[in-house]
Amino acid sequence: MSSELRVEQLRKVFPTTNKAAVDDVSFTIAAGEIVVLLGPSGCGKTTTLRCVAGLEHPTSGKIVIGGTVYTDPQAGVLVPPRNRNLGMVFQSYAVWPHMTVRQNVAYPLKSRKVSGAALDKGVKEALELVELADYADRPVTQLSGGQMQRVALARSMVYQPQILLLDEPLSNLDAQLRLRLRDDLRRIIKRVGLTALYVTHDQTEAVVLGDRIGVMRDGKLLQLDTPSEIYNQPADLFVAGFTGATNVLDGRVVARDGGGGTVAVASGEHLIARMGDGVAVGAAVRVASRPDNVGLAPAVEGPNQFLGRVTTRHYQGTQTVYQVTVLGATIEALEVGSAARHAEGSAVTVALPPGVCWAYPV
Ligand SMILES: Nc1ncnc2c1ncn2[C@@H]1O[C@H](COP(=O)(O)OP(=O)(O)OP(=O)(O)O)[C@@H](O)[C@H]1O
Ligand SMILES: [Mg+2]
Repeated sequence: MSSELRVEQLRKVFPTTNKAAVDDVSFTIAAGEIVVLLGPSGCGKTTTLRCVAGLEHPTSGKIVIGGTVYTDPQAGVLVPPRNRNLGMVFQSYAVWPHMTVRQNVAYPLKSRKVSGAALDKGVKEALELVELADYADRPVTQLSGGQMQRVALARSMVYQPQILLLDEPLSNLDAQLRLRLRDDLRRIIKRVGLTALYVTHDQTEAVVLGDRIGVMRDGKLLQLDTPSEIYNQPADLFVAGFTGATNVLDGRVVARDGGGGTVAVASGEHLIARMGDGVAVGAAVRVASRPDNVGLAPAVEGPNQFLGRVTTRHYQGTQTVYQVTVLGATIEALEVGSAARHAEGSAVTVALPPGVCWAYPV
């Protein structure tokens, strides 16, 4: 039922523009795996998904589902969307307003000539899965946004598609509902064992939902890894920044040691950071770190401790964001907890754990 998805060297140039919306993107999703494409607006997430669905015709590249080629413009292969057996859930609640919940979910089965007991069983199971069994006879117009989105989900899963495609399905929901449905979505998709390609620009959504996350920028897939690898070993400055490592220090590599090295920063002080094999001594680098990894403390023993001064303090109730001058630059530090410990103007020891400082060549 659920299949492997292979996207090979996918490229899409819209005729009205010269720039590639999707630029040589390749990845494989194993059967039953959830992959999230994450990236800022306009980076090519939806276009990639639409190419998989067959709604968009790529300029070149291949889409292979369960070993069968569905898209290969060079060979003249382009299977229409309705023959791909894929499920799709979009941002807008794509439910039929004149039907009840049950009728909405039954529709895809009916159009596939499923009837009688098989139809009833399929609809019942799908509604139970999304916890809407009690709402079966309600017109969908009398549902909340979250419930409508669950109808859309049930409807796109009821016929057991090879792959489930989801494009920002939570973005029209209010914050609270969004969190709830986000957790539910992963559980539901995993219970059915569907292969899923999920598109979002929300990092937390990507982390919670994805077995792997693919970070995109300007049509390119920059890194495809597990959430933990994306957060702890970002492949470049963009991935680091997009996942929250917004502190950047310029410097030059003065020594290398295994997967790390020492960087002389603007102030002349030496900072230890992780760096790729290709970064040589003498290279100009930018060192990224996450505000929540920066410790402000009375001095403790360890590497990468520097004297700094708090310039501004933004108290946010359950956390406090400080701007700190250190190493000849200004960086941010985030401390959780409802007590703001450091006053503006106070001297602090700034700890930058070497394992969560990443240096990238400029
Ligand atoms: N039909 C079209 N014709 C011309 N250009 C298009 C078309 N559809 C998308 N594009 C362009 O292709 C690029 C990628 O668009 P896409 O919709 O894939 O982005 P996205 O990552 O889904 O963004 P968002 O997060 O805003 O939904 C953008 O620069 C967009 O303007
Ligand atoms: Mg989009």
